[in-house]
Amino acid sequence: MSKTARFFDMKREGRPIAVLTAYDAPTAKAEAEAGVDILLVGDSVGMNMLGYASEKEVTLADICHHVRAVRRGAPGAAIIGDLPYMTYETPDMALANARLVIEAGADIVKFEGPRADIVEALVGASIDVCCHLGLEPQHHAEKRFKGRSAQEAAQLVQNAIRLDEAGMSLLVLELIPEEVAAKTSQAIEAPTIGIGAGRKTDGQVLVICDVLGFTPANFRHNRRYQEVGGLMSAAAKAYVSDVRGKSFPAEANVLHMAKDELEIFLK
Ligand code: KIV
Ligand code: NA
Repeated sequence: MSKTARFFDMKREGRPIAVLTAYDAPTAKAEAEAGVDILLVGDSVGMNMLGYASEKEVTLADICHHVRAVRRGAPGAAIIGDLPYMTYETPDMALANARLVIEAGADIVKFEGPRADIVEALVGASIDVCCHLGLEPQHHAEKRFKGRSAQEAAQLVQNAIRLDEAGMSLLVLELIPEEVAAKTSQAIEAPTIGIGAGRKTDGQVLVICDVLGFTPANFRHNRRYQEVGGLMSAAAKAYVSDVRGKSFPAEANVLHMAKDELEIFLK
């Protein structure tokens, strides 16, 4: 059974699909053990983990590097790898680069935009595809809600139907009204995974750094489950204080020579 067949079953049965981004082995392991259905190595790695100013700076080598780490941390997980900006200009280019993401350990490759020609090229080479409509961070400079006008919403549904017919296995819907996400989810066979797309999609995805509270700012679409940014600062501060105050390392952290060896050594 292909790894994506399970998600079609979940859609049919009305069981929501839980997706989180993952960029490294320990986080991937924690997510897989928690029962997350799909791990997404998104180009959000660039701004969240690599200090880039934009997702456009993320390279194919970056994605492959992080896909390998996530695969090592979660050997049995379903993993989606993003094709970065400008790596899928033509179907041939998309196919060559998708093969590299699959070789790195992904099961499914994701790209942004209504490119049925690219879906056909990848599916024709037996690569499972996740499409991404609504806000496309690689293509939209402003991070604003999409599909608010009736015309834009109808276009989005049409694009989704075309990608579905081309054989996509999943569709990420980002920052669109709940009504548009609901209609899209009903109109297509492939499961939809929403982020800021309301309650009517077949699954949800969030960025793990937002979920963990790495940064002080929150987004309306997000729910913070921890305040890890604050915990990291507190841990680093406590460490600095212990080093300065010479309370670290303590006796318990230290290795000593055996007495007989020490006597010879000090002679
Ligand atoms: O890169 C990413 O994390 C994504 C999700 C926000 C869907 O594409
Ligand atoms: Na992305």
